[in-house]
Amino acid sequence: MKIVSVVGTRPNFIKIAPLIEEMNKHSEIRQLLVHTGQHYDATMSKFFFDDLEIPKPDINLGVGSASDAIQTAKIILTFEKVLLKEKPHLVTVVGDVNSTFAAAITAKKCGIKVAHVEAGLRSFDMTMPEEINRILTDHISDFLFTTEESGNKNLIREGIDKNKIFFVGNVMIDTLLKHKEKSKKSKILSKLKLDKNNYAVLTLHRPSNVDDKKSLENILSILNEIKKEIKIVFPIHPRTLKNLMKYRLLKYIKNKKNIIVTEPLGYLDFLCLMSNSKFVLTDSGGIQEETTVLGVPCVTMRNTTERPVTAKEGTNVLVSTDKVKIINVCKSLIKEASIKGRIPKFWNGHAAERVVNIILKNLN
Ligand code: UD1
Ligand code: UDP
Repeated sequence: MKIVSVVGTRPNFIKIAPLIEEMNKHSEIRQLLVHTGQHYDATMSKFFFDDLEIPKPDINLGVGSASDAIQTAKIILTFEKVLLKEKPHLVTVVGDVNSTFAAAITAKKCGIKVAHVEAGLRSFDMTMPEEINRILTDHISDFLFTTEESGNKNLIREGIDKNKIFFVGNVMIDTLLKHKEKSKKSKILSKLKLDKNNYAVLTLHRPSNVDDKKSLENILSILNEIKKEIKIVFPIHPRTLKNLMKYRLLKYIKNKKNIIVTEPLGYLDFLCLMSNSKFVLTDSGGIQEETTVLGVPCVTMRNTTERPVTAKEGTNVLVSTDKVKIINVCKSLIKEASIKGRIPKFWNGHAAERVVNIILKNLN
């Protein structure tokens, strides 16, 4: 059985790692790893292959950055050639990025079955590029592996055959649980001169927050208030850095007291940083899930989440980008308020094992 797995962006590498490891345990599976090249900086790509010991991709499509449409088109053009040559039985895609949808549609058009890991999530906000990718990928997939109950419900409501839906848990959490112990050896706290439980972590990259000057200025003015009370560590995503430079806003955070700006961090350093923080302020998808498992409060600067279980059962608070609301929530977290949560069903380190067993049993 030949399986091609496709990755392109930072969160994809984290999700594919346990799947590759699990497939390697089965001698009847021959795997090929394709990197689309959507993310290419060492800090956004190579660091994760190193930290997570992911084998080097067999093929790199090298598509690089472009508008969503051009990037999707470039992946389709180059990936089709790979599929025509390799003729796999299955293409596995993870998450909701352009690489996910582009690889899925190419496979489907070549008559190859598609497995979507992390299916069914919905923010119900079609202005998000990821929501478009999620819906389209789910509707052409043959295996839909879901992470939470809301995903099962969304897929059924959209008319997807329930026999294709498999509730397996969360591969990103498989990776977290596997590396948590190892991340304790990271030197990131001493390197950044941080004391445990005495700083906040910030990540930002959603286009709605960082592509527009006014939205970015609003967030900077919020940081300006929060940093009066707690240190903020901000590993800056390349999209955000590009916009901070374009709008000449970088000067408001660089070399400022209580804001520590860094490049994007490797997986183990970032996991160590999150685990020991007072709270995390973010607009990331995956970080909402990881903080729930770590028991660290997560203040999510978005109006919606496609991962509702993190707010219902976990430690996630959706605060939109309302300045007063964010500052109030952060202040209460600084003054010791904690958020008690529980770990969602099946987020126990065995999702990849379930995925691979289901594929082996059902792919024919
Ligand atoms: C993409 C995904 C998003 C995911 C995020 C994870 C889509 C539509 N978006 O967003 O869902 O949450 O990855 O981090 O697929 N850049 C670099 N170096 C890199 C990569 C990007 O400098 O290695 C810069 C380029 O200027 C590029 C910009 O970042 O134009 C945005 O990159 P892109 O991959 O298009 O989208 P992300 O914002 O990274
Ligand atoms: N992450 C990391 N270093 C960083 C920021 C994030 O290793 O500097 C990890 C984080 O722990 C999570 C993943 O990257 O596993 C989330 O990726 P991102 O926020 O870019 O994408 P999203 O989940 O929003 O699609």
